[in-house]
Amino acid sequence: MTADLFEDTPPERMAQPMVPGAVLLQGFARDLQAALLTSFEEVIAQAPLRHLVTPGGYTMSVAMTNCGPLGWVSDRRGYRYQATDPLSNQPWPKMPGAWRELAARAAAAAGYAGFKPDACLVNSYQPGAKLSLHQDRDEIDMSAPIVSVSLGLPATFLFGTERRADKPQRFRLLSGDVVVWGGASRLAYHGIAQLPAGDHALTGARRINLTFRKAGDAA
Ligand code: SIN
Ligand code: FE2
Repeated sequence: MTADLFEDTPPERMAQPMVPGAVLLQGFARDLQAALLTSFEEVIAQAPLRHLVTPGGYTMSVAMTNCGPLGWVSDRRGYRYQATDPLSNQPWPKMPGAWRELAARAAAAAGYAGFKPDACLVNSYQPGAKLSLHQDRDEIDMSAPIVSVSLGLPATFLFGTERRADKPQRFRLLSGDVVVWGGASRLAYHGIAQLPAGDHALTGARRINLTFRKAGDAA
């Protein structure tokens, strides 16, 4: 699909088509890993990681927080985006400029020019944590892609179709990898298989994921 576009890029910058509309950009954020983790620490100092409760009353194994104008939250009332952190009633921390630029560059490399995320969901997985198959469908504008940056321990990304019953494909995500999905794959079911134990040089026994979205309708 995108092979011609990337014929001059080194192997660590290869774009792997996953399904139509979805691309795995291996190593796209490799050079930024340390800087991303420094600003991750700043974000979670302002808006701590927490385990959200689903509307069904289940406590998620992944710890989450947000930065940017909007943040994704879940509680007994449902899933939604909101401009303030329910723990503090303060605005979410600012989205670091380097994060926004990385997300826009990755989106463009995957064929989605002009991506302007207004929400970054920050996920932290410890060994044993998983994220069940789900669609990202709480955003208003489905024409914008999702950009997902992996840091720390490797994980298995499950990526299916718009139908929950279809068996998902499995992709290994390493620290510095970026996945972009949109277009025909925007509503694909996806998730993270239970994280195996491990010790990563940058994050220890943890995988961090930054998921960039355009959640609101502001231009
Ligand atoms: C998500 O679907 O919100 C996160 C996916 C990931 O952790 O890679
Ligand atoms: Fe998701």
